[in-house]
Amino acid sequence: MKYVIGIDLGTSSVKIILVNQLGIVIDEVSKTYPLIQERSGYSEQNPEDWVHQTIDGLADILKRFDGDREEIEGISFSGQMHGLVLLDAQQKVLRNAILWNDTRTTVECQDIYDAVGEERLLEITKNPALEGFTLPKLLWVKKHEPDIFRKVSNFILPKDYVRYRLTGQLHMEYSDAAGTLLLNVSDKTWSREICDMINVDIELCPPLVESHQQVGMILEDIANKTGLSPSTKVFAGGADNACGAIGAGILEDGKTLCSIGTSGVVLSYEASQEKDFEGRVHYFNHGMTDAYYTMGVTLAAGYSLTWFKDVFASNESFEEILEGVGSVPVGSNGLVFTPYIVGERTPHADATIRASFVGMDSSHERKHFIRSVLEGITFSLNESIEIFRQSGKRIDTIISIGGGAKNDEWLQIQADIFNATMVRLSSEQGPGMGAAMLAAYGSGWFDSLRDCAEQFLIEEHTVTPIPENVVKYKELFTLYKEVYRKTKELNNRLAMFRS
Ligand code: XUL
Repeated sequence: MKYVIGIDLGTSSVKIILVNQLGIVIDEVSKTYPLIQERSGYSEQNPEDWVHQTIDGLADILKRFDGDREEIEGISFSGQMHGLVLLDAQQKVLRNAILWNDTRTTVECQDIYDAVGEERLLEITKNPALEGFTLPKLLWVKKHEPDIFRKVSNFILPKDYVRYRLTGQLHMEYSDAAGTLLLNVSDKTWSREICDMINVDIELCPPLVESHQQVGMILEDIANKTGLSPSTKVFAGGADNACGAIGAGILEDGKTLCSIGTSGVVLSYEASQEKDFEGRVHYFNHGMTDAYYTMGVTLAAGYSLTWFKDVFASNESFEEILEGVGSVPVGSNGLVFTPYIVGERTPHADATIRASFVGMDSSHERKHFIRSVLEGITFSLNESIEIFRQSGKRIDTIISIGGGAKNDEWLQIQADIFNATMVRLSSEQGPGMGAAMLAAYGSGWFDSLRDCAEQFLIEEHTVTPIPENVVKYKELFTLYKEVYRKTKELNNRLAMFRS
């Protein structure tokens, strides 16, 4: 039997899966690392933590593996998008990585618009300037940490850095490069025009490759530390959302994904770069060559639930806190939550907005709060679905992956709020599976990613909407949408009290 490994470098942990030629997950391991939040709006990680935990996780898998290590043919990666890792001329990391959910760069976004123009930026990158993207972070370091910036020889993204440490080869692939705001998304080249207009040396951008392309092999000392063979092939991999799309089979027109991890996304396949959503949703290169996807992002999806658990029920497991949400009526007895604990992206690109519980009543128990957190996250994602539907897309079936697919009650809430049939796959590990599929395709096991999806992905469970819940949620969704408008000004004024 042959095997591949998929490494998903997430925001809270790295998840590693070992997959056999039939697409069955033989083993898996997860290793956490901390988030560094020095101030409100800041979110950083130490790249060394990613590398250390990935090596540790691989070593765990290899220790338990009873086959011949040469049978593990390939490895590939999925990674949290947009995070800025800065390297000096010796490829040493110059500072902590600034992550996708760090929102300190509102001024730099405006600087980009001033230099490039909103329309031209959208033409080249197909996306607006958002705080989470990489270029505003690069400009922030240039402005606030000039001594560090002077030493920068390359910038790189999180999973590309880990892959560099495992292979010694520095690359970026298109699906992640698309989220930097420096890529000409249609031409698949670094935009010299943008680099010139914002005064960033194009030489800082690493060489570009396709997601399934082999970029190297495992370095000898990494092979010694992990137990992998030095002849294991390493494939570039993709952005976590691109890999989530591959791992959920979103590989042709008409397919839609809802992925709930730390962030939440609703993602739709696009065969070309020709559509125009005027920047209302992200438009990125897929991990499948010459394909694209559009996507709306809820910044704090699973993170809202994790935050609630950490603050109010830190000693309990997710299973424990989710117990009983099914007994709470639709609408959580008049309690509405907006999941803006770190600001929001779609449809409100707003780094200053913060979350609310509206309608707290003395009859409410903890379970009402928990259901309303689940409902609020799902309402936020429904705003992206609404944009897609308004553009003429038909969305009647959605593949659900990540934490949001694990819990049956939440899957029902998704079906009722989205008014669509929700499908759970036998493996809900979309991004890790997508990475493994890139390694399988890159290794020549299949003629295409679609062929690989046919072999690897199995629909396990389907949940259909309950008509009376759909009606109630439709009304509640209207109320939910009003909360943003009504709390925006309040939050602008509260911002000065945040440290
Ligand atoms: C997408 C985004 C997030 C991260 C999460 O634009 O910022 O979904 O990729 O890892």
